[in-house]
Amino acid sequence: MRVLGIETSCDETGVAVYDTALPGSAGLRAHAVYSQIALHAQYGGVVPELASRDHVRKLLPLVRQTLAEADLKLEDLDGVAYTAGPGLVGALLVGAGVARSLAWALEVPAVGVHHMEGHLLAPLMEDDPPEAPFVALLVSGGHTQLVAVDAIGSYRLLGETLDDAAGEAFDKTAKVMGLPYPGGPQLAALAATGRPGVYKFSRPMTDRPGLDFSFSGLKTQVMLAWRDSDQSDATRADIARGFEDAVVDTLAIKCERALEAAGSDTLVIAGGVGANKRLREKLHDIAGKRGGRACFPRPALCTDNGAMIAFAGALRLQAGQYETAAVKVTPRWDMATLPVVGETKPEFQQ
Ligand SMILES: Nc1ncnc2c1ncn2[C@@H]1O[C@H](COP(=O)(O)OP(=O)(O)OP(=O)(O)O)[C@@H](O)[C@H]1O
Ligand SMILES: [Mg+2]
Repeated sequence: MRVLGIETSCDETGVAVYDTALPGSAGLRAHAVYSQIALHAQYGGVVPELASRDHVRKLLPLVRQTLAEADLKLEDLDGVAYTAGPGLVGALLVGAGVARSLAWALEVPAVGVHHMEGHLLAPLMEDDPPEAPFVALLVSGGHTQLVAVDAIGSYRLLGETLDDAAGEAFDKTAKVMGLPYPGGPQLAALAATGRPGVYKFSRPMTDRPGLDFSFSGLKTQVMLAWRDSDQSDATRADIARGFEDAVVDTLAIKCERALEAAGSDTLVIAGGVGANKRLREKLHDIAGKRGGRACFPRPALCTDNGAMIAFAGALRLQAGQYETAAVKVTPRWDMATLPVVGETKPEFQQ
C-alpha cells in the first residue's frame, strides 16, 4: 500500500510517500520538508496566519516534488494520510483540505493522523524496529511525555511536563543568551564546545518519586547565571553545556524510572529533542545497562516531517481505519482516546 503523508500542523510543510510493501526503512520512498523558520524568525515565534498561508503556497509543489522523487504518479497512491491535530487550526485545515480533495479525486481512503502518534511511531520506520509493548519518550517543542505503549494505538500517559516542554526550554534558554530563533539546535551545538561541570544546574523533580517534569525553573537559573557572568563566548558555551547536561540527566532519570515502572527494557524516543546527540548517547547507555535498547528515528525524522504521518496513516489504513470525506481537524486531541490499530472495526466508511 502506497500512502501519501501530509504534515501541516505548525511551521513545517512535510510530504512523504510510504510503501508498506517494502521492508524496513526502504518503505520510505521519498520525503521532503519545507521549513518556515525564516518566515517567522523576525517575530521570534510562529505567526499562525502566516503559517497557514505559507502551507497553501508550498504544499502542492511539495507533493509534486515528492512524487517525482519517489518516481510515482498520483494514480499510484492507495491512500492519503494527513495530520488532523493537535496543532494550529488554520494550518491543519490546509493539509486536511488538500488531503481529502486528493483522496476524493483519486477514489482512495484518507485518514486523519494524530501528530504525536506520528512522532511516536517514527522510530518504527527504521530497520529492525521495536515491537510493542515499550515505553516512549516524546520530547518536542510542545510536548514532554512518557507514554506506555501497550499496542500500536494504545497509549497510557505515565508522566508529562507541568510547564515548559524540553524543546521549549532549549529555545527559551537560547533566547536568554542571545542566540537567534529557534535556538534549540544552536544551543546544543554551542554546548558541544562548553566545559562540563563549570555551571551546575538542578535536575528538576528528580528528588521525589514520579514521572512528571518541570523545565521552566531551569530557564530562570540560566538567566541568573548569564546575567551575573562576564557574558563572554566561552561562558555562553559553558552555560549551554551545564543546561544541556541538566536536561539530558533529568530526562534519563525519568526514562529509567518509567522503564522500571512499566517492566520494560525498550525505550523509544521521538520528537525534535530526540535529535540531541548527548541525549541519544545517554539513553542508549541507560537502556543498554538494562539489557534493552533505545530506538530513535534518524535525526531528520525527529522534528516535524511528512514521513511519520505517511507511516502512522499507513498502519491505520491497512487496518481498515479511515473516515468519511469531511474535512475535519482536531486542534486539541488526547492521544489516549485513539482506537487500537487492528482491534477496532472501522467506525466510518468512505
Ligand atoms: N539537537 C537538538 N537539541 C535540543 N533540542 C533540539 C535539537 N534539535 C531540535 N530541537 C528542538 O526540537 C523542537 C522542535 O521539535 P518538533 O518539530 O518535534 O517540535 P514541534 O513540532 O514544534 O512540537 P510538537 O510536536 O510538540 O507540536 C524545538 O524546540 C527545537 O529546539
Ligand atoms: Mg512536532
